[in-house]
Amino acid sequence: TETTVQEELMAAIRTIPDYPKEGIIFRDITTLLGNARAFRRAVDALVQPWAGSKVDQIAGIEARGFILGGAVAHQLSAGFVPIRKKGKLPHETVRIAYSLEYGIDEMEMHKDAITPGDKVIVVDDLIATGGTAEAACKLLQSMGADIVAACFIVDLPDLGGRSKLEALGVPVRTLVSFP
Ligand code: PRP
Ligand code: ADE
Repeated sequence: TETTVQEELMAAIRTIPDYPKEGIIFRDITTLLGNARAFRRAVDALVQPWAGSKVDQIAGIEARGFILGGAVAHQLSAGFVPIRKKGKLPHETVRIAYSLEYGIDEMEMHKDAITPGDKVIVVDDLIATGGTAEAACKLLQSMGADIVAACFIVDLPDLGGRSKLEALGVPVRTLVSFP
């Protein structure tokens, strides 16, 4: 019998208790990435609403958003913009501090990566508190991006990330949820 995309993806994700800190239930997508069929189904499902529509840039969030974002950019014939942890980009950047489920950090993007009015989709593997994706959307919007959506394989809905992005006017697409 055919499994649904949701069932297949959920089964392909590994769960590691107490990583990287005690009390965190870590959802590890490396097992999904290593499963050729699950990886393809995840990317196809993520882009499905925008197949055939004009998207200028995919903004991928370091590090796991790079793996998915590159595949999504290829699929939609869009460019790719890396949003990186601080200190990694060589040209002039805009920077923002943020917090996530298990820490704080700063991220940046190149000032010239976006042309005002560009239609952009933000991609990452997972949304938890939404702190990371919210910061990425604020950076992109500060450079004039028109964010069409933010897409994630995994949602941890109890941590409330979705509403942070919706407050910025960004529609959110996720494929599976873990309570
Ligand atoms: C993880 C994940 C998201 C973020 C989600 O990345 O890939 O980017 O946390 O958490 P939030 O919704 O609470 O902000 P992490 O910072 O661990 O970086 P990595 O991809 O480099 O491992
Ligand atoms: N990023 C933030 N929270 C996470 C979790 N529980 N599993 C994997 N990545 C995460």
